[in-house]
Amino acid sequence: MSASGIEGSDRSIETVVFSEARIAARVRELARDISRTYAPDDRLLVVGLLKGSFIFMADLVREITVPHQIDFLVASSYGSGTVTTGEVRLLYDSAIDLTGRAVLLVEDIVDSGTTLAWLCPELESRGPRSVEVCTLLHKRRETQNPEPRWVGFDAPNAFLVGYGLDHAEDFRHLPYVASLKSPA
Ligand code: PRP
Repeated sequence: MSASGIEGSDRSIETVVFSEARIAARVRELARDISRTYAPDDRLLVVGLLKGSFIFMADLVREITVPHQIDFLVASSYGSGTVTTGEVRLLYDSAIDLTGRAVLLVEDIVDSGTTLAWLCPELESRGPRSVEVCTLLHKRRETQNPEPRWVGFDAPNAFLVGYGLDHAEDFRHLPYVASLKSPA
């Protein structure tokens, strides 16, 4: 499928990697498995990590059938560049008490693993019943600690945008995941 002609500030789309239909089907599968895993007594709290997870989160929670609440965190490690700075910053924190809650952290993509390696221990320190991760995309660059329990797709080693993912804040609104052309 071609997505030529879609342009951000200085880069343009190369090809669609995961189509809207393929993502929707996979989101339904993930939600079905998540719904079977948790019970109402678990007091599931689904926490979306912004900004990248905002579309995935909205689609996923509408397919999860076990009762749950939602919240968001804002973390950033990339700034406006394409390479992780290695330093994670929590720009907005949850005000919800995590004590005894089953926390499901929703990510758009695991790349270097820096974000999860920092964030999961931080959430664990707040006394939840459990912390699990559901990510739409996983680059599987190396063994991650922690490993997400739910993964939508293994991602190719390309710079991916769309369905929440950005390049310098562009392309988040695209309904599919696409790769970016290399800089000219
Ligand atoms: C991106 C993405 C993940 C993280 C993954 O966030 O949304 O949270 O990087 O990379 P890592 O595995 O190498 O840590 P970013 O900091 O770009 O913020 P955003 O969600 O606002 O795009």
